[in-house]
Amino acid sequence: MVEINRMGVIGAGQMGSGIAQLAALNGVDVWLHDSDVEALTRARNSISKNIERQVSKGHLTQDVAHNALRRLRCTCNLEDFGSVDLVVEAIVESEDVKKNLFVQLDKIVEGSAILASNTSSISITRLASATTRPSQVIGMHFMNPPPVMKLVEIIRGADTSDDTYQATRCLAERFGKTVICSNDYPGFIVNRILMPMINEAFYTLYTGVASKEDIDTGMKLGTNHPMGPLELADFIGLDVCLSIMKVLHIGLGDSRYAPCPLLVQYVDAGRLGRKRGIGVYDYNTEQKETKS
Ligand code: NAI
Repeated sequence: MVEINRMGVIGAGQMGSGIAQLAALNGVDVWLHDSDVEALTRARNSISKNIERQVSKGHLTQDVAHNALRRLRCTCNLEDFGSVDLVVEAIVESEDVKKNLFVQLDKIVEGSAILASNTSSISITRLASATTRPSQVIGMHFMNPPPVMKLVEIIRGADTSDDTYQATRCLAERFGKTVICSNDYPGFIVNRILMPMINEAFYTLYTGVASKEDIDTGMKLGTNHPMGPLELADFIGLDVCLSIMKVLHIGLGDSRYAPCPLLVQYVDAGRLGRKRGIGVYDYNTEQKETKS
């Protein structure tokens, strides 16, 4: 079984930066890549700030923090990934873009390396088919935010080997996560159940059943969820939610998974949620508690 000591993370957005932070704090050497240099700068700053905050609260020693930051290297050059044991990609939720990246990575990383995807819903079997190593391709789906959430959902593609599964599972457990394993069907376990609920919340708003605040309060206090579904959608990113609904709709071939027109319209308008300052809620004018 491959032991993972050097890891590559691709995509320095909300998920990739959190995964890189988690890896660096757990003794793994990490290369973090993004095609956008500003995203890399933002990610490094946010990781440093998060780690410093943990030191000031007494949760980490200065030494541990210093070593973690030393383990993290940022790069715009994919060629730097030549010696990593595992790469996890957390780029945009698009099958074509992810496949294209896997084709490039397949040529760059060593033959023994594992290619993992943090995809929320896209078929691991189809991503694997773009490579010459389908037995070493796997889904490693962290929850948002990765340093805080306790779960990693591992998805085995049609050809994922037991060795690849065990090495990925060991890595997630080294990060202190509880692992669940899903077969490769649209949305896997978590988003197969969560996204239709979020989509239904959009339909509830769209058809005028209630205000966004009452929908969120209803689900928070009525079902004991820590966040309401619309607030959660803003936190995940409305573009990510829409991409997942499209995968469910096409992959399961059932009209009940059709994305709500209001969700589509918000994404068309660039209202992508917290990361853009506006989604269902406007974070520039409305006072909402920060969750991350
Ligand atoms: P994000 O929009 O915050 O970050 C994506 C990053 O990828 C951006 O910095 C962008 O510049 C970069 N990027 C895009 N294409 C690239 C390419 N070809 N090469 C290098 N960098 C590229 O997105 P987020 O929310 O971090 O999501 C990333 C992935 O994680 C998606 O597949 C999403 O479905 C999945 N995911 C998202 C969760 C969430 O709550 N947002 C939860 C679990 C998984």
